[in-house]
Amino acid sequence: MRDALRVEGGHIGYDTVPSFRGRGVATEMLRQALPLARALGLTAVLITCDDTNAASIRVIEKNGGSLKERKALDASRPLKCYYFIALG
Ligand SMILES: CC(C)(COP(=O)(O)OP(=O)(O)OC[C@H]1O[C@@H](n2cnc3c(N)ncnc32)[C@H](O)[C@@H]1OP(=O)(O)O)[C@@H](O)C(=O)NCCC(=O)NCCS
Repeated sequence: MRDALRVEGGHIGYDTVPSFRGRGVATEMLRQALPLARALGLTAVLITCDDTNAASIRVIEKNGGSLKERKALDASRPLKCYYFIALG
């Protein structure tokens, strides 16, 4: 994994078109991405998000993510949360 992705991007990202938010789309996108990551040989995935992004935190937690760390990358930005999801 590239260093920049360890700090900011993580293994998986998602974005739902605004007019379709709140319908479970991102939860399902992440759910379907996990077996693909497993098939690539990963045993866990890192997902990062801002601590102000309550919807994304919910999506990660609904997919079994556990918070490992919260870090200030820049004083002018929200804290960055580092979640891991173990791949069975
Ligand atoms: C984050 C994002 C991907 C969520 O997409 P979505 O398709 O609306 O997500 P879902 O419908 O699967 O689930 C959202 C969950 O967050 C909850 N939620 C939404 N807004 C919330 C808020 N302000 N506070 C708390 N929970 C919130 C919803 O209730 C839902 O949980 P529930 O199923 O228990 O009710 C979407 O808001 C987005 O594209 N944001 C911009 C890009 C982004 O931030 N990507 C993630 C980068 S880490």
